[in-house]
Amino acid sequence: MKTNPSWFLRRFPSGMPRPDDFVLEQGRIPNPGPGELLVKSLWLSVDPYMRGRISPAKNYAAGLKVGDLMLGGGVGEVLRSEDPGFRTGDIVQSDCFGWQTHTVIPAKTAIILDPEQAPVQTSLGCLGMPGLTAYFALLRTARPKLGETVLISAASGAVGQIAGQIARIKGYDPVAIAGTDEKIAWCKELGYRTGINHRTASDLAAAVAESCPNGVDVFIDNTAGPVHDAAMSNLNVFGRVVVVGTVALADRFDRPDIGLRHLRRILIQRARIEGFLLDDFASENAIAKAELSEWYKRGLLQTREDILDGIESVPSAFVRMLKGENFGKQLVRL
Ligand SMILES: NC(=O)c1ccc[n+]([C@@H]2O[C@H](COP(=O)([O-])OP(=O)(O)OC[C@H]3O[C@@H](n4cnc5c(N)ncnc54)[C@H](OP(=O)(O)O)[C@@H]3O)[C@@H](O)[C@H]2O)c1
Repeated sequence: MKTNPSWFLRRFPSGMPRPDDFVLEQGRIPNPGPGELLVKSLWLSVDPYMRGRISPAKNYAAGLKVGDLMLGGGVGEVLRSEDPGFRTGDIVQSDCFGWQTHTVIPAKTAIILDPEQAPVQTSLGCLGMPGLTAYFALLRTARPKLGETVLISAASGAVGQIAGQIARIKGYDPVAIAGTDEKIAWCKELGYRTGINHRTASDLAAAVAESCPNGVDVFIDNTAGPVHDAAMSNLNVFGRVVVVGTVALADRFDRPDIGLRHLRRILIQRARIEGFLLDDFASENAIAKAELSEWYKRGLLQTREDILDGIESVPSAFVRMLKGENFGKQLVRL
């Protein structure tokens, strides 16, 4: 009988998650009920939001409990369908995959993919959740004007690489913050005007000032932490900060986030800081996906993936992404 290797949460991580916070068990291949699909996983996505789901701290979505199956986005092939909208052999994307080789997913969460249009794993990256996040954070939340300086952290990552390219397409002035010189060099190939290595800059605020001589009009904050402080001290009048993510806090979820206080700057610059959640834009997803797909087809959106292979590597992929060891969208291929 075939087994179904599956990853479960062994304990809530203390500080930075480690691969041994998860345990691999051999389960049985489940049977789908009415309205469900049995899928064979082809690609699994590891994303920073999962750090919040494996913490007892309050979050915008319900978290996992110790002993629960790890969940995330994935792409798979339908082996059995108990829903009239899907057939055996369809390739589908859903955010309800388990970290396992075979998953039962609710059919209503699944989208059928067309491999002729784009490689199916792009539905987990530039044409999926990260791409949509970049689109809505930049165009609907920050709403930059032509020529404005748009500073983007985690710039080579899944969200950042798309945000920078949209900024270039729209005629803004994108500036990257990333963690290695290689990442900065690639960001420039994508169309970022320049970039700052936040791991080697001796004075981050000065580095931002040098790279953004006209100040920062828009800051797409994918990380929080010291990068956030450096951007805030360069914010222009009527500057807009979109807080998209706090991945820099992955190792201190259980401790207060200590940084500088920026209230004087916010007051003087009449700046706006806004939290962002992709779910709030669900009604506009189809429009954004169509525009992203069009740019992709025309060769205006490049994407870089960082791929590990095999079900065994899912926790390592997750941890290396949180530590910034990924170069591009972190995926696991099964
Ligand atoms: N609010 C929403 O709806 C929503 C949706 C999707 C994603 N997000 C957020 O968007 C952010 C980016 O997600 P992603 O999927 O695109 O991840 P990603 O950028 O592909 O990977 C995470 C990156 O974060 C950077 N990083 C890690 N620790 C850091 C630190 N201490 N200081 C600065 N940078 C650090 C690393 O890049 P470097 O090497 O460049 O440091 C790492 O590669 C995350 O915070 C995520 O939670 C939010």
